[in-house]
Amino acid sequence: MRITIIGGGTGGYPAAIRAARMGAEVTLIEKDLLGGVCLNRGCIPTKSLLQTANVINTMKKSEVFGVMCKGYNVDFNAVMNRKKMVSNQLSDGVKKLLTLKNVRVIEGTAALVDDKTVEIKETGEKVKSDAILIATGSTPAKIPIEGMDGPDVLNSNDVLEMKSLPKSVVIIGGGVISCEFARFLSTVGTDVTILELMPNIIPEMDMEITSILHAILEASGIKIFTNANVKKITHKKGVNTVNYGLEGKDYTVKSEKIISTVGRKPDLDALNVAGLGIATEKGAIVVNEYMETNVPGIYAAGDITGGIMLAHVSTAEGECAVRNAMGEVTQMSYRVVPSCIYTDPEIASVGFTEKQAAEIADIKVGRFPFRGNGKAMVINKTEGMVKVISEKKYGEILGVHIIGPHATDMISEAVLGMSMEMTEEELAHAIHPHPTLSEAVMEAGQILSGGCIHMP
Ligand code: NAI
Repeated sequence: MRITIIGGGTGGYPAAIRAARMGAEVTLIEKDLLGGVCLNRGCIPTKSLLQTANVINTMKKSEVFGVMCKGYNVDFNAVMNRKKMVSNQLSDGVKKLLTLKNVRVIEGTAALVDDKTVEIKETGEKVKSDAILIATGSTPAKIPIEGMDGPDVLNSNDVLEMKSLPKSVVIIGGGVISCEFARFLSTVGTDVTILELMPNIIPEMDMEITSILHAILEASGIKIFTNANVKKITHKKGVNTVNYGLEGKDYTVKSEKIISTVGRKPDLDALNVAGLGIATEKGAIVVNEYMETNVPGIYAAGDITGGIMLAHVSTAEGECAVRNAMGEVTQMSYRVVPSCIYTDPEIASVGFTEKQAAEIADIKVGRFPFRGNGKAMVINKTEGMVKVISEKKYGEILGVHIIGPHATDMISEAVLGMSMEMTEEELAHAIHPHPTLSEAVMEAGQILSGGCIHMP
């Protein structure tokens, strides 16, 4: 079986390794860097930057631990170099893994010729195979307003290549990317204003959880305006002015740079998807539950299919696609998908929000604050809580939402539990190690099932 994979990001490269493990002869075509947006312009570099912010925040509170620090300087070049070093190391690692699995990696831009052939534009080489997986990802979306093409308007790629730290930024959009950049930039000394169109930041997440983040970000000095409708950007003598409407009135805010974070769009450019009759909807490739397009033998995975644009989802989709291409019958399931935000405190969430759960079932909600957790006290991070939502009839857990220290690592127990239809009793009775932050998850489960120990 020969499989050609277009795109070496988190949708493509794990699929290549999976297919090779299953015995396929695999060719992977990548026009830029192995590891894609996640490793090079997304998850990994932004988390490297946020780790710098975490170090600063720890230092600011070092006296609590009896360590007196006399000020600090941020070397922005060093921050950016470390970010690059981490990405490069991981990207090189991907290359080695692919080589070890005998995956042929072609550096070039692929276009579909027919359902069995892909052409490399730069060399004209034609690669024949039995199945093709398209995993070409997404690029930052743009809102069509006057001034968006101005010299100081940056997207997430541009922010990650900045040579110096701006004194002030306005971030358009109050979603995941916005909050992570805001947290980093504000911690290293930039004045940050967020303008979000909807009534809440990160609108798709549980509102109780995001309102805690909203308050913490504001308390740290970030200015946040929700229900803010950006109308125009003007650029004059190095100063940018953003005009926005709010509750019927017009306002302006000035800044050195403007960052646009209003979502991402699938990257269909140059693939010749239309030429082959591959169905698309709103600019994304349409796939069935086997990740196959309407053209038999052509599969698609990741951001190119729209849907949930998360690295871990793209990996699951890519592996599902190649398993099916190899003759297994595997359906993609989105029943239990975690999402994480790496602000300080972190947010992690899986399953239904309280509002969504209440629409489909009679629910109970258990909340356990980190101020009641011993380990949180030890590490001096007592902000936030764990919120567990269950349905009343069988006690099945429908959603878990955490805001607090290491939330993104702790959500995995909820992911595993919910994928096995865990009940509140099962969570409450599972012995958790002490002292750990994860006890807060257990205690939130106990609140739903007879009461917890460390809260009244
Ligand atoms: P997003 O969809 O998370 O947020 C965009 C925000 O912009 C929304 O809140 C939206 O209401 C707002 N918006 C849209 N038009 C606007 C306008 N004209 N004025 C003001 N606000 C406006 O998109 P984001 O943050 O750009 O992230 C893109 C993708 O990358 C998402 O799918 C996200 O899940 C993913 N991502 C995931 C991360 C993680 O897992 N930690 C980190 C970064 C990105």
